[in-house]
Amino acid sequence: MSAASLEQPDRNLALELVRATEAAAIRAWPFIGRGDKIAADGAAVDAMRKFLGTVDFDGLVVIGEGEKDEAPMLFNGEHVGTGRGPACDIAVDPIDGTSLTAAGRQNAISMLAVSDRGTMLDASAVFYMEKIVTGAEGRGVVDIRKPIGENLRALAKAQGRDVADLNVAVLDRPRHAQLIDEIRSAGAATLLMLDGDVAGGINAARYGTRIDMCVGVGGSPEGVATAAAIKALGGFIQGRLAPTDDDEKQRGIDAGLKFDHVYEGEELVRGDNTFFVATGVTDGELVAGVRRKGPVIHTESVVLRSRSGTIRRIGADHLVSKWLDE
Ligand code: FBP
Repeated sequence: MSAASLEQPDRNLALELVRATEAAAIRAWPFIGRGDKIAADGAAVDAMRKFLGTVDFDGLVVIGEGEKDEAPMLFNGEHVGTGRGPACDIAVDPIDGTSLTAAGRQNAISMLAVSDRGTMLDASAVFYMEKIVTGAEGRGVVDIRKPIGENLRALAKAQGRDVADLNVAVLDRPRHAQLIDEIRSAGAATLLMLDGDVAGGINAARYGTRIDMCVGVGGSPEGVATAAAIKALGGFIQGRLAPTDDDEKQRGIDAGLKFDHVYEGEELVRGDNTFFVATGVTDGELVAGVRRKGPVIHTESVVLRSRSGTIRRIGADHLVSKWLDE
């Protein structure tokens, strides 16, 4: 093993990585509200890949995104970075919310997560994962195996609040009809998301947001990426793989994945050296979207680092002339 591969990612890496999500968001920006999610995603992927190529690290894409709808992607197993510096696993989603972007709706982000090499669960053989995410109060209190009503009562008690005060983010999908009914019957309110359960999960774990819990079935890659962010927030996450048929389950078994098993946050991303960065594509509760102000394009990003337990906001003005041919 080379000396370089023994290095661990350090705090400077996070600031380098944010350039890649900024670039992806800026390149996606002309496609907001233009009805073409593949073009938006393609522009974001190209920009992210190009910027990652300039970062001094040896990144292995453990979790890429896009197979589900054959969107352009950074491939699983692809190496990114200059190859110099720390060996890392990386989960990328150049746009979480491609349909939101194409429709001009809120809550689309560009994101990536990095951890030490060999620490990220490769769940790519199975598209969907059932997840539950809360802030720190949910630890040891909430459990994905329990009925949702019980979890809501337990979380409310741990927070010293009433269930009626809780807001639960759920992807607005027919598969969640019963879950949504149960949340409302328990007395809590739902906050139905059109897409984008990474931001939903992070907002559930952050203090001072409108969301107390994020539950339901979403993408597995998104689940692993969310887990990297939850580490830095000291929050709580569990996931359970949700294959759609026996063939997919078998592919998962062949890949070493476990079913009828609850993946704790620590199994989704092991260790304590994770970075999560996201830049807003369209406006959302986590970050504001890309906007143009005369000669500059403004981006807003967050950088979360588990070692320090910090969430940093980075606002940047980029000269339009450097980015767009006008
Ligand atoms: P993409 O924009 O990357 O396609 O993902 C959007 C998303 O809503 C994720 O946030 C979520 O995890 C997943 O899709 C849910 O999948 P589906 O749309 O099939 O329910």
